[in-house]
Amino acid sequence: MATLSLSINGRSVTAEVEPRTHLADFLRGDQHLTGTHLGCEQGVCGACTVLIDGKPQRSCLTFAIDCDGADVRSIEGFDNDPLMNELRAAFTKYHALQCGFCTPGMLASARDIVSRLGEVSEERIRLELSGNICRCTGYVGIVEAIRSVSLGKPPAMTAVVANARPLKRVSEETVVRTAEPMPRAQAGISKAEGSSLEERIVINAPVDQVWDALSDLRRVAPCVPGAEITEIEGETVKGRVRIALGPIKPSFGGEAHVTMDPAKREGRMSGRGRDSGTGSSAEGEASWRVIEGDAGQSVVIVALSWRLTGMLSQFNRSGIVQDMVHRLASTFAANLEAMLKGEASPPASPQGLNPLRLIWSVIIKRLFGWS
Ligand code: FES
Ligand code: FES
Repeated sequence: MATLSLSINGRSVTAEVEPRTHLADFLRGDQHLTGTHLGCEQGVCGACTVLIDGKPQRSCLTFAIDCDGADVRSIEGFDNDPLMNELRAAFTKYHALQCGFCTPGMLASARDIVSRLGEVSEERIRLELSGNICRCTGYVGIVEAIRSVSLGKPPAMTAVVANARPLKRVSEETVVRTAEPMPRAQAGISKAEGSSLEERIVINAPVDQVWDALSDLRRVAPCVPGAEITEIEGETVKGRVRIALGPIKPSFGGEAHVTMDPAKREGRMSGRGRDSGTGSSAEGEASWRVIEGDAGQSVVIVALSWRLTGMLSQFNRSGIVQDMVHRLASTFAANLEAMLKGEASPPASPQGLNPLRLIWSVIIKRLFGWS
């Protein structure tokens, strides 16, 4: 058993939980908050969606213990929320529910859509809702209800849920402070459309050595779990990235354009890929820079932006992806250090890739989850 302390619907809660207990079971079984519904328990249907630190997340794919220090908001926690009350009234007006099983998750996602995007088109609502499945009503009324509430509202009106507390997340040890400006992906992906993050990876090796390794895609590729390069032609790289988003294990095949500036020790890439299994697509951009750290260390600063469409779009706003990226970065750093020291061979990869693989992995994982 492990001790868990968090905020649930504005109430401080401390409890003992099994490490394997997922958040949905904890909310329903331990906290008696049965408004969170469980449909598939595989991250597909979205019925279990709750807000964790203001972002919609699959509670069936989130371990309760990972929410230590977090602000969790289930459907029961919105009774005094003006926007949620507007949405509830609109769902009634537009007959946006029938059996109601999907409705708690739909409302959680709907609140996120309106609060983040403001007035939003039907097309965009359908894209944003692609991770929430309704098997009896259909989507016309749901989309109309959300659209009606969004009319005239500005973006990011109420993006943060009240009483939000910081969620303890992984790999703080990989983050360092530096006055160096972060490289920026020249993304055509806006914040509203996709997701972005910055990661700083500390490598225990000299900066020139790290840059040389990162510049050799085939050499560094094996350091990135799940990626393979199938072809390199000029600045175009083709390959595949396999990730695991909870029980979903997409394999994205695609190509990317990669450029590097050795004088600045900077690289950039943009690309897109498709997973035939889920019919989902991912596109993303990334930039990275290698700078000197403390005591002979190097710091790789990576900026990423990505957008998922199709079934995996449900992960666009998921913390699962954020966690996956952090873990990926930690694994990549360990593998790269081992390779540079000649101490161990990184995990075998069909073919190399490197920053590309890191980026794709991040994009995809982030795409959904993290991994
Ligand atoms: S129960 Fe279906 S996504 Fe969680
Ligand atoms: S209203 Fe029945 S599943 Fe959506």
